Amino acid sequence: MIKIEAIVREEKLEDVKEALNAIEVNGITVSQVMGCGMQKGYKEIVRGSEVDITMLPKIKFEIVVSSEEWEEKTIAAIQSSAFTGNIGDGKIFSYDLRGVMRIRTKEKDYDALN
Ligand SMILES: Nc1ncnc2c1ncn2[C@@H]1O[C@H](COP(=O)(O)OP(=O)(O)OP(=O)(O)O)[C@@H](O)[C@H]1O
Ligand SMILES: [Mg+2]
Repeated sequence: MIKIEAIVREEKLEDVKEALNAIEVNGITVSQVMGCGMQKGYKEIVRGSEVDITMLPKIKFEIVVSSEEWEEKTIAAIQSSAFTGNIGDGKIFSYDLRGVMRIRTKEKDYDALN
């Protein structure tokens, strides 16, 4: 199992959600976060205007998938839907996940995902 965490622009929330729906990824957690990258938030465009603060509002997606094939598909969908080409587009992280349990049934790992 692989966990994918993507930090994207606030205004890309709907586009990324739709792209994930389109490839039938269905377990998704979304949160509003603050962060900075290489430029430390300096002079990024947020909602059309240039802002000069160190931490900028972003959207974080968390998705757990069952295989490397799904990892690739999910990352490709996020990359293309979150892309503008400007600084601050965000990052996608992925890592191995130790375990999952569905609370209702106590199913574990792959059974808990599918
Ligand atoms: N190394 C990192 N660790 C944790 N979070 C990060 C890291 N880099 C970026 N982020 C998160 O991603 C958000 C967007 O980062 P950003 O797109 O500015 O990255 P970047 O490396 O500066 O790339 P770019 O040059 O395209 O701006 C940040 O606000 C932060 O929340
Ligand atoms: Mg940056």
